[in-house]
Parts: sequence; structure tokens; C-alpha cells
Amino acid sequence: MVATLRIADHVAAGTTRIDDLAAASGADAGSLHRVLRHLVSKGVFEEPSSGRFALNEPARGLLDSPVRLGLDLDGFGGRMAYAWASLLAAVRTGAPAYDEVFGRPFWEDLRAHPDLAASFDALMGPAGHGTPDPEVLVTGGWESVRAVVDVGGGTGSLLAEILRARPTVRGTLVDLPPTVARSAEIFRAAGVADRVTTAGQSFFDPLPAGSDLYLLKSILSDWPDREAVAILRRGAEAARPAGRIVVLNGVSPDESGGPSPALLMMVLVGGRERSLAEFRELAREAGLEVQAAERQPSGRFVVECRPTRVLQ
Ligand SMILES: C[S@@+](CC[C@H](N)C(=O)[O-])C[C@H]1O[C@@H](n2cnc3c(N)ncnc32)[C@H](O)[C@@H]1O
Repeated sequence: MVATLRIADHVAAGTTRIDDLAAASGADAGSLHRVLRHLVSKGVFEEPSSGRFALNEPARGLLDSPVRLGLDLDGFGGRMAYAWASLLAAVRTGAPAYDEVFGRPFWEDLRAHPDLAASFDALMGPAGHGTPDPEVLVTGGWESVRAVVDVGGGTGSLLAEILRARPTVRGTLVDLPPTVARSAEIFRAAGVADRVTTAGQSFFDPLPAGSDLYLLKSILSDWPDREAVAILRRGAEAARPAGRIVVLNGVSPDESGGPSPALLMMVLVGGRERSLAEFRELAREAGLEVQAAERQPSGRFVVECRPTRVLQ
């Protein structure tokens, strides 16, 4: 809530008295004072004299855009916070009950609220999740890779880093139209805009075919098994005959004690993380075979697959 009201920013700008903070943030002074005193008791902010506030290290964290993006109740942070009200229904039924809280399923909710979708994209992008690691391969080198498709690649930060690191590679960003529309600045800033094509489309529709590498980063864990297989099948069709599908995030090694419970995925979208054995089964259904799976030095677990058979 204090992130939403930008209290740390106001204090950093020199507004420190509770009445002035309340006026600057459009809040009730008495209620805000109680909240800030509560936070002080938990170690966030200091109150050096009665009714006057100062930043300490934890409060300074609220000035960081990634933290603020995730906590802003007026943006996607609010969806993450309030969606927990649907946990019980999700556990009772085995299906997400996000629509009971927000009136629509998650992706429809984003489509209906462009500001919210923009805030989600920002949280997924460099402002929220930082600069992605462009090392996505676990077998072979980049010599044979001429073209990469990032499927559900958000606003393009991973693709931008890959193209920046590999000047001979070309890339295609596939994501929903409003999201790819936000990618131009990221590609321009990385100096790779002339090697990128964007495709504003659903990944449940046929994907741009004939590339060497199809990336799926933090995608499959957003979906139940049936949809995850459908996305993988689109990847297999497009990658045939010799392309690779690389899955980043959402799959864990079998020996790791099980995939993360990913409860937020459960309440937002009905998705889940999977063990490698579970993923192999989905890949097989989609016409893919796991060729390699490895934990990279960054700690990221990467799974590479190749198409196995022609689909009917
Ligand atoms: C969790 S984000 C991951 C984004 C990016 N790959 C990353 O790792 O930062 C999921 C992405 O899937 C996209 N998405 C959701 N439904 C989609 C659909 N039907 N077709 C294409 N993209 C979709 C969202 O817009 C979002 O960018």
C-alpha cells in the first residue's frame, strides 16, 4: 500500500511530516500514520520524531522500480495480492477461480484492462525482472543458429539480449499484439531492431516456421497440461524438420525434490511447474523428444527438444 502511495518517493523528495505525506499521496493522515507506525515496528521506515518519517535500508527498497512494480496495488501488484482471495476455491475445485474475484479469467482480464496489461508487461520485462541471461543453449554452439523465435517473448528483452550477443542471428518475437507493440524501444536500445521481426498473434495459432530455435521462457507454467501441449505442438510444427525447442523456467530436474508448488500460478492462471518426467510426457504428446536437460551456471534449468514425427 505504501508502494502504491509512493510514500518512499515522497520521503526521498523531502516530504517527511505525516500531514504533508498524507496530502502528497492523497491519503487520510490518521490512517496513514497508523500504517507507517506499523511498518516502523516491522523495521521499514524510521520515525525519528513523532509524526516525522525517514527512509532506512528496507524503505529505500521501495524506491526500486522492480519492487514497486510488484507491490503497486493500482497495477499488476494488486492482481497478485487480491487473487489470493480465490485460493480456497482453486484448491476445492482444482481450477483457477480468478474470475470470481475479478469478473474474468486472467488473460481476458488483462485484455480488458490495457493499463493492467502494460503493468504486467513491465513487470515481466527488464524494469521488473532485470536483463535476461542470453545463454539459452545446452547442446551445440550458435554456429548453426541463424534464426530464433521467442514464443510468448513478452516485450522482447530476452530476444534483444540474444541478438546483441550474436550479431549474425535474426529473431522473431511472438506475443499478443499489445505486448509486441511495446517491444520497439527495447530492440532499439539494444541496437538490434534491424534484425527483428514481430508477430502479434496467439501462440495457439501456427507459429512462424523454419527457424532454428524456438524459445519458451516462463510460458508453459502459465497453463494447464492441455494448453501446454497445444503450445508445444505449435512449436513442433514450426520447428520441423530440424529446429529445436528450448524451454526455460517451469521445469525442474527429477532429482530436485519436486517442482516448485507455484501457488501464484495456481490462483492466477491454473498453471503449474513440472518435473522433467512430467514435461517429457507433455513433449511426447506434442510430437517432441527431450534431447538434453541441464542446469546452467546461472542456476536456470534448460530443456531442449526436437520434433519427432509428422503430426496429423
Ligand atoms: C509469464 S510471461 C513470460 C514472458 C517472457 N517469455 C519472459 O520470460 O519474460 C507470459 C507471456 O505469455 C504471453 N501470452 C499469454 N497468452 C498468449 C497467447 N495466447 N499468445 C501469445 N502470447 C501469450 C503474455 O503476453 C506474456 O508475455
